[in-house]
Amino acid sequence: MPEMPEDSGVTIEALMDEQRTFAPSPSFSAQANISSPSIYEEGEDYVSFWEKQADRISWRSPWSKVLDWSNAPFAKWYVDAKLNVTESCLDRHLETKGDKVAFYFEGEPGDTRTLTYRELYHEVNKFANGLESLGVQKGDRIAIYMGMIPELPIALLASARLGATHSVVFGGFSSDSLRDRINDAEAKVLITCDEAWRNGNRIALKEYADSAVEECPSIEKVVVVARTNAEVAMADGRDIFYHDLIATMSDEKEATETDSEDPLFILYTSGTTGRPKGIQHSTGGYLVGTSFTHANVFDIKDDDIYWCTADIGWVTGHSYIVYGPLANGCTSVIYEGVPNFPDKDRFWDIIAKYKVTQFYTAPTAIRTFMKWGTEFPERHDLSSLKVIGTVGEPINPEAWIWYNETIGKGTCPIVDTWWQTETGHIMISPLPGVTTTKPGSATVPLPGIGADIVDDEGHSVPLGGGGYLVLTHPWPGMLRTIYKDPERFKETYWGRFSKPEENKWVYFAGDGAKRDTDGYFWLLGRVDDVMNVSGHRISTLEVESALVDHHAVAEAAVVGRNDAITGQAIAAFVTLKGNVEGNEMLLQELREHVATKIGKIARPASIVFTDELPKTRSGKIMRRLLRDISEQRKLGDVTTLANADVVREIAERAQNQASSQASQE
Ligand code: WTA
Repeated sequence: MPEMPEDSGVTIEALMDEQRTFAPSPSFSAQANISSPSIYEEGEDYVSFWEKQADRISWRSPWSKVLDWSNAPFAKWYVDAKLNVTESCLDRHLETKGDKVAFYFEGEPGDTRTLTYRELYHEVNKFANGLESLGVQKGDRIAIYMGMIPELPIALLASARLGATHSVVFGGFSSDSLRDRINDAEAKVLITCDEAWRNGNRIALKEYADSAVEECPSIEKVVVVARTNAEVAMADGRDIFYHDLIATMSDEKEATETDSEDPLFILYTSGTTGRPKGIQHSTGGYLVGTSFTHANVFDIKDDDIYWCTADIGWVTGHSYIVYGPLANGCTSVIYEGVPNFPDKDRFWDIIAKYKVTQFYTAPTAIRTFMKWGTEFPERHDLSSLKVIGTVGEPINPEAWIWYNETIGKGTCPIVDTWWQTETGHIMISPLPGVTTTKPGSATVPLPGIGADIVDDEGHSVPLGGGGYLVLTHPWPGMLRTIYKDPERFKETYWGRFSKPEENKWVYFAGDGAKRDTDGYFWLLGRVDDVMNVSGHRISTLEVESALVDHHAVAEAAVVGRNDAITGQAIAAFVTLKGNVEGNEMLLQELREHVATKIGKIARPASIVFTDELPKTRSGKIMRRLLRDISEQRKLGDVTTLANADVVREIAERAQNQASSQASQE
């Protein structure tokens, strides 16, 4: 198990110097869904707390027990209860909210669509009937690889309507990544689109999907949504257009009954090995958790217009574009493209156009907006905003303050929400009507959630200290297992600090954190070999394998270095084979190679060629040193190295490269 990063103390000192506090205004608190701190006391008896919250959603039949933890760490929530999540998200709204808008869709080129709850219900039913006609049954896996268009949430819901399990693969991933995820899940059907719009360009998703599916024996059918109406190859008998499929389908479809514990979806995420993990989520507990947190962290009211800028390819989109908001009968905006198309004010234009009341985005985006300057938000009326949120990475106090002043105009509580693909929903976050916020802190665990900070031995660290962030008891939206790999699930998340002999189970999140004397949590980033680039989790090993896959590469080491905009940036160190020469052309080729193998989000920001990598005498690559080099810090102890002078040479090369890159900019 890796040590805490050595530099984390420095970061936290800087953060904990942050003395500013922001109490909710009395007028905000007065109207808030939750305005009394007594909710935290209620949450202490977490089982009865979550039992009460279960009334938020529709059940076909009730549970025999709220939580079964007897087979820990495999949890069951709302044991034996039956439901179909789409009945909570759609059917039950028809009578009271049938004509209410579920989604305002804003296409990148400027086209728009509006779907009311009734329209969404009918679309989902048609597609569910269509999928069933292709042979999809309860329990089957459906892979989804699309751009951010309305058919994407429709696809998730149609899968859920049939009791199938969806596995969404982010549209920015490569064919290879898609192929591996389809094969791991043994998906029967793939849903994709002809092309996606991104930054004014057409992304050939169907083409990528075709090369993936060539090597996916489980795929029987490919459904293609026409987004740009581009000419795409359609394989006879395998491929069918979405519009052809649903043309003759009924818009009514009885939902399939599922058990509270049936899997709703799998979502792959990077871990400490090269192989992505299929995080498996349940049905009942997941919906209770996302519905409760969405309603109360964002303080959602019936006439609000909520906008989460995440892609549905990530967990944030699953929980806070699709399931949470729809369960709450909320109106959401979905935007297809990038924030700077056609200009750098697109997000602010959208907020003003739809009168968005809650806005949820990532620190990387906020730092980018800061760099672009205030003239872009100033072009638009942002006065509709009431609550603004962030997720995905730690937000530095400077960006927090900018967000507060420039976007929130000093009147919108900021909710800095800490959670993970694995946790399913928000875990540590302010409640905007209750919590006094501090810039850079995600504040305290939500009611019904147990979190602590522990040292290497698993002992709770007193207030004011730092260590590993752990979750101390089960919660409804928790991952249930890693798909097809329960042992890996047990070991990865519960192996480090649990004491099975005492029946004490502690979830290790992989993050370092400190707690100040008020008990506020300050997240410090990952303590394992997972990088967080613009809020996207990428494992160092995945990038290393992609590099080594190139014929010129003998060995590679990858680290995440701090970056002012993206949080971390990928820094690679590469040893080339025999007589291959490391030049600028090869460097670009390697970056592209990683983009093709994994996806553009994994393309290294810098690559340094080196004759050797710094290794311990036992042959372990010293990543800590490489991180020091990348961040141009004074080098740490090299005495345990087998090849100490290598380090100086690499440091020099990295330095030269950095200055040559700087002069090019
Ligand atoms: C990081 C995204 C600090 C953290 C929902 C976590 C954060 C990982 C925050 C999960 C936050 C997420 N402050 N760090 N508010 N939110 N993280 O699975 O390292 O894509 O472990 O889920 O992002 O990333 P994931």
